[in-house]
Amino acid sequence: MADGICKIIIHGGAGRLEGKVATKEQYRIGLNEAIGPAYQTLVDKGARAAVLHAIRLLESDPIFNAGTGSKLQKDGRVRMSAALMDSSDSIFSGVINIYDVEHPIDVADCLRSEGHHILSGNEATEYARRNGFVFHDPITLARFIEYRKALRTSEKFGTVGAVAIDADGIVAAGTSTGGVGHELPGRVSDSASVAGTYADSAGGVSCTGKGEHIINQAVAAQVVSRLRDDVPLKRILTELMNEGASRNHEFGLISLDGNGKFGVRSTKRSISVLYALKDDERELDFTKGGKNLVL
Ligand code: GLY
Repeated sequence: MADGICKIIIHGGAGRLEGKVATKEQYRIGLNEAIGPAYQTLVDKGARAAVLHAIRLLESDPIFNAGTGSKLQKDGRVRMSAALMDSSDSIFSGVINIYDVEHPIDVADCLRSEGHHILSGNEATEYARRNGFVFHDPITLARFIEYRKALRTSEKFGTVGAVAIDADGIVAAGTSTGGVGHELPGRVSDSASVAGTYADSAGGVSCTGKGEHIINQAVAAQVVSRLRDDVPLKRILTELMNEGASRNHEFGLISLDGNGKFGVRSTKRSISVLYALKDDERELDFTKGGKNLVL
């Protein structure tokens, strides 16, 4: 990045689609508590460390649907997915449907140095144990009650994520999710796929919303691929969201381009991405920055 300025944007899911375990104000507080420490890590240690730090904090906060506080699937169990990627080596690594770990994003990070970068299910969990990730039950009482109450109602979607660019111009993106709630065991979300998480030197994206819709449009990889072709971020997001709206898709995203421009968008007016952002000039969140943002 030309000016060497550090920038980070994080999200805590897709607004009303998150369910009812927390209020808008609680989400605002949770995001604002994470953005400051993550920004400091960005300055001190770079983009990948900052994305990991932000997502770890959000996974630990039980109001967000990732790590502790993840939604329960149809069979009453929690299975989580997480992935990250950065432009220093463009390696995508992730875990799909891992269980009983505190920080799925750290297991995804650990897989970067392996010969195979994505693991799923039992084998992902066994890999985590072999690498020192101890048992952690992510089910909270609030999520259990939500699960019981929602037995006859529809899915809600949620995720956390972060995208950052550091002073050396390294771009990193990461996403972590407990899924949509009440999904069929074995369902694979977008989060640990290049549709939900992608980064290279042209930009980075983390998505939230209905994974099936995000995968249909290959959202994150498509945004970065078009940035690589020098299409402006604003135009890419507008076209992608218009296409999503015309297909009745429900998702949103946070993004950064290689020049440090922030972008937040969703396919429908009724979906607002819960986000916070910080650079050396400003600190904004979804209550102050508006729903749709490119700056
Ligand atoms: N975007 C989260 C999910 O669909 O699982």
